[in-house]
Amino acid sequence: MSDLFSKFDPLIQQRDELLATGLTDPFNLVMEKVESPTVAICNGKRTILLGTYNYMGMTFDPDVIAAGKQALDDFGSGTTGSRVLNGTYGGHKAVEEALKDFYAMDHAMVFSTGYQANLGVISTIAGKDDYIVLDIDSHASIYDGCALGNAQIIPFRHNDVEALEKRLKRIPEGADKLVVLEGVYSMLGDVAPLKEMVAVSKANGAMVLIDEAHSMGFIGENGRGVAEAQGVIDDVDFIIGTFSKSVGTVGGFCVSNHPKFEILRLVCRPYVFTASLPPSVVATAATSIRKLMDSADKRAHLWENSKRLHAGLCQLGFELGSKEPQSAIIAVIMPDLEKGAAMWEALLNEGLYVNLARPPATPAGMTLLRCSLCALHTEEQVGEILGMFAAAGRATGCIS
Ligand SMILES: Cc1ncc(COP(=O)(O)O)c(C=O)c1O
Repeated sequence: MSDLFSKFDPLIQQRDELLATGLTDPFNLVMEKVESPTVAICNGKRTILLGTYNYMGMTFDPDVIAAGKQALDDFGSGTTGSRVLNGTYGGHKAVEEALKDFYAMDHAMVFSTGYQANLGVISTIAGKDDYIVLDIDSHASIYDGCALGNAQIIPFRHNDVEALEKRLKRIPEGADKLVVLEGVYSMLGDVAPLKEMVAVSKANGAMVLIDEAHSMGFIGENGRGVAEAQGVIDDVDFIIGTFSKSVGTVGGFCVSNHPKFEILRLVCRPYVFTASLPPSVVATAATSIRKLMDSADKRAHLWENSKRLHAGLCQLGFELGSKEPQSAIIAVIMPDLEKGAAMWEALLNEGLYVNLARPPATPAGMTLLRCSLCALHTEEQVGEILGMFAAAGRATGCIS
């Protein structure tokens, strides 16, 4: 009999070997209690959270929680249906209105996750005879959207404007083309040169979709993302985002000014053939998005945190994913998986949680300790975090 699991044997062996050394499983940590956006109890110990996507610290916002509780009382625990049947409640419309206001755009469509937003929009607008030019380091949901739509995929070197232009010029005359970019790349925390890339894409007749999952709420004057910060948001055809990061809950969306956008609600399979988000989730998302419009102080504090942590880690001698702090993500590059896992565990023992990231999620086979900051980390917490990195780095030999 065939064993369809045999293809996983190398991964199973690698994992078994790592755990046989007595290491805590870095991909199976349980948060026993979450006290705030920045502190949880893990293994019975107070742990500072530096590996969540809770950039704006909205998960414990009293207004957000109150909205969720009220919606549970008023509308029940779930919709039990698709948006195109019984699954559109007032709350789904309200969160789409909040998104339109947040981005100052004509249309907003909410999906059950950000993964499904990319899967749905990309696969629906770019089909078999169309071309998608995308950064090689694009998120899995972007690649999966391309595969589902069966479009011709042309990847280009990460953040390389010239490479993008060359690929665009090679596409046969008359073919429809979509350029897919991200604002912040989540593994190294670096930002795309969207100003140049959007200009090159438009000059070559392509539509542009930008995934702003890791920039929404934080980057740009109004928190609309890197396209806003670089002054090209009006030239972008579609922005994809998620509620699972700065918004602080779960869900995904696409906003656009395209005049025919609403037809997607009937033809986009990952929107039609799945249940809609629970009423409590859309209520928390709408409240959070509206509060994010008015969060300039939090954005400024998060930039301070990012700069402080980046400078401190550099000073300690760690190699980082970007020369300058470009976002709320700071990636510490580890020499290999073994060292990375040892450092991850040493940090956890100190009382700090970060993400251990490894291929295929990471570019160029890198092992990373990914730190993502929150607007609610205090200056003192950032100091504590640097102290823990110093202790764990010396104990594991990552720094001298
Ligand atoms: C760039 C990017 N796009 C999309 C997603 C998917 O978001 P969600 O968690 O809402 O499915 C992620 C999640 O990590 C992401 O990093």
